[in-house]
Amino acid sequence: MADEIRCLKSNLQGERHVDCGVQTVSSDEQMKVEQSVSAMFNFFMSRRSMDEKAPTLTRDRHTGYLKRGLKNLPEAFSCLDASRPWLVYWGLHALELLDEKLEAEEQKDVANFLKICQNTVGGFGGGPGQYSHLAPTYAAVNAVAILGTKEAYDIIDRESLSKFLWSMRTKEGAFTMHENGEVDIRGVYCAISVARLTNIYTEDLFDGTAQWIVRCQTYEGGFSGAPGLEAHGGYTFCAFAALALLGKQCLCDTEALLRWAVNRQMRYEGGFQGRTNKLVDGCYSFWQGGLFPLLHSFLTQEEPANISGERWMFQQEALQEYLLLCCQHPRGGLIDKPGKYPDFYHTCYTLSGMSIAQHFFLGAVHKKRVVGNPSNELSLVHPLYNIGLETALSATQYFHSLPVPSGKSQVASSEKDTQKQV
Ligand code: FPP
Ligand code: ZN
Repeated sequence: MADEIRCLKSNLQGERHVDCGVQTVSSDEQMKVEQSVSAMFNFFMSRRSMDEKAPTLTRDRHTGYLKRGLKNLPEAFSCLDASRPWLVYWGLHALELLDEKLEAEEQKDVANFLKICQNTVGGFGGGPGQYSHLAPTYAAVNAVAILGTKEAYDIIDRESLSKFLWSMRTKEGAFTMHENGEVDIRGVYCAISVARLTNIYTEDLFDGTAQWIVRCQTYEGGFSGAPGLEAHGGYTFCAFAALALLGKQCLCDTEALLRWAVNRQMRYEGGFQGRTNKLVDGCYSFWQGGLFPLLHSFLTQEEPANISGERWMFQQEALQEYLLLCCQHPRGGLIDKPGKYPDFYHTCYTLSGMSIAQHFFLGAVHKKRVVGNPSNELSLVHPLYNIGLETALSATQYFHSLPVPSGKSQVASSEKDTQKQV
């Protein structure tokens, strides 16, 4: 077990940032973060002899943190009042990864809450009485899927959801986040994800979408939020997962994407950064880490002889080490980097990334590489939706037994685009 732990077996000093005499704000920040990561690595090494199985994922603390937060959040979280289905999804997904179930009463409360976030025009708002928005709609649909009962699935009004997606579609095949809202790649991903999961996908709803997504791939290889902007892990995941859900990965430059993605893993810290020249952050364990199963699955079909059947194309152990040693808050919940406070967002995406780093699974092959205590093993993630693998399979099975609603909006996309320009 010991030789799987990178900071014990090798001298990582050679991987630290060197500013070559050109000191900048970015290089100073990078060195400060490396210093704090180094302190965490050293603390672990000094105590390792006390527990041969370490590092350990403190499951009970994280579970307690999540269950408490699902009932009640401190006042500081009131800024997320328009993201309440997100809080529910992040909490439920983190708990499912930890193999924790909600009590029947808790399940009912969550389902009732999601129900009152849904609007008659279709889609879900960020809270009861709030306008429908694609981001909380994605979160609510994923949360319903995780609840996983027929009563929960039937909360989703698929007919009106389909109309809502049509009303968010632009002439080009991109999606606005909400009425008169911004158009970006998150909208595209949220729309295609809910459409596929709930079986309301139709080809005409996504006509031109893949071509719009491809315009967001930058000279670096990653994708930006909209054409002409900077590549970022969050947007790159949305873009490539959306292309995969459309079956159109071949339209982008996957070689450049892979090169960009592998270079986002930090050589010293082991975690991922979101974009070039920026700092490691636990949440990118999923946004960047989640790209690898998607790329692997596509590249295996394209050029099977060149692709490993054993592991993803990033250092899976180093990522787990960063998460276990640097991202667990002592009072429960997971964090961005040492010195930060926990929140549901980081707890969800760090655990999703950890699961991907622990499990290589492709077709019938499943190879585990669980760093530290065997009890650290998390359940499997479906990398297209970021919900549990079984959760996604059960939900798609249920919704695919229902007919696809017709859904087309009264407002033609071209008319809507003209209205927006006025
Ligand atoms: C930069 O923040 C963050 C962004 C530019 C957006 C990130 C996008 C996502 C996380 C994807 C959201 C996906 C859905 C489905 C809604 P920053 O400048 O604080 O962080 P950085 O320094 O790490 O880039
Ligand atoms: Zn983050």
